[in-house]
Amino acid sequence: MQGSANLNVMIKAARKAGRSLVKDFREVENLQVSMKGAGDFVSKADIAAEEILKEELLGARPTYGWLGEEGGGQDGEDPTRRWIVDPLDGTTNFLHGMPHWAVSVALEHKGQIVAGVVFDPAKDEMFYAEKGKGAWLNQSQRLRVSGRSRMIEAVFATGLPFGGRDTLPASLQDLARVLPVCAGVRRWGAAALDLAYVAAGRYDGYWERGLNAWDIAAGLLIVREAGGFVEPIREGQSLLESGSLIAVNDPLSQPFIKAIRGA
Ligand code: IPD
Ligand code: CA
Ligand code: CA
Repeated sequence: MQGSANLNVMIKAARKAGRSLVKDFREVENLQVSMKGAGDFVSKADIAAEEILKEELLGARPTYGWLGEEGGGQDGEDPTRRWIVDPLDGTTNFLHGMPHWAVSVALEHKGQIVAGVVFDPAKDEMFYAEKGKGAWLNQSQRLRVSGRSRMIEAVFATGLPFGGRDTLPASLQDLARVLPVCAGVRRWGAAALDLAYVAAGRYDGYWERGLNAWDIAAGLLIVREAGGFVEPIREGQSLLESGSLIAVNDPLSQPFIKAIRGA
């Protein structure tokens, strides 16, 4: 796909942050002896990656606003555009030496996500999309959600709240409804990649409660541009604000959305 100048800036920034994270990821294993030491190291790696993203993205587009997990929000001179980034999605995997984490970068224009990049440096997979231009993996692989139409053959992904968050009871109820009617549920621990995998047709659908805008902004556009649906769990809510969402292929959209909403 012939990407816009903005998309090229995003891909370059995600690669640069990814390189820095890969270097730190190799170090993490040596630090496993002390979980506290490893935890501090990972939060430094995370902050350093966000710094790189900020330098690259705001360096190229200094008038845009900013929302990042580590650095918070900042208004830009241009009130209509903002970068929404998660420098390291899948922190727990990273900390435990598991190669399943990503850099997520989205561009919002007038309240809509118009470009999104989710980069998995450990597998060298760059997922990206621009509004109206389809979703892509690496150089030239067009992404398309799966065509599976039977719930009982479908594999779904989810995220389960940790640390006793208040979304735990509802998430367990979701599982109780979905597990008996599908082929399996995965919980891999990186929301941005969960969405990218729905776009790639690897998962047939995904749902999760209590996420933040930076976890999902890029991935939701990638799913939609791959022909999938992304809906808030509670009808009528804003996706980015509620952070509770369902992403699914076309044929399963009705039964899956129904199963999650419990209707
Ligand atoms: C987390 C991951 C995880 C999801 C959590 C998120 P982080 O992001 O996306 O899959 O279940 O709710 O907070 O903290 O690794 O950036
Ligand atoms: Ca995240
Ligand atoms: Ca993060």
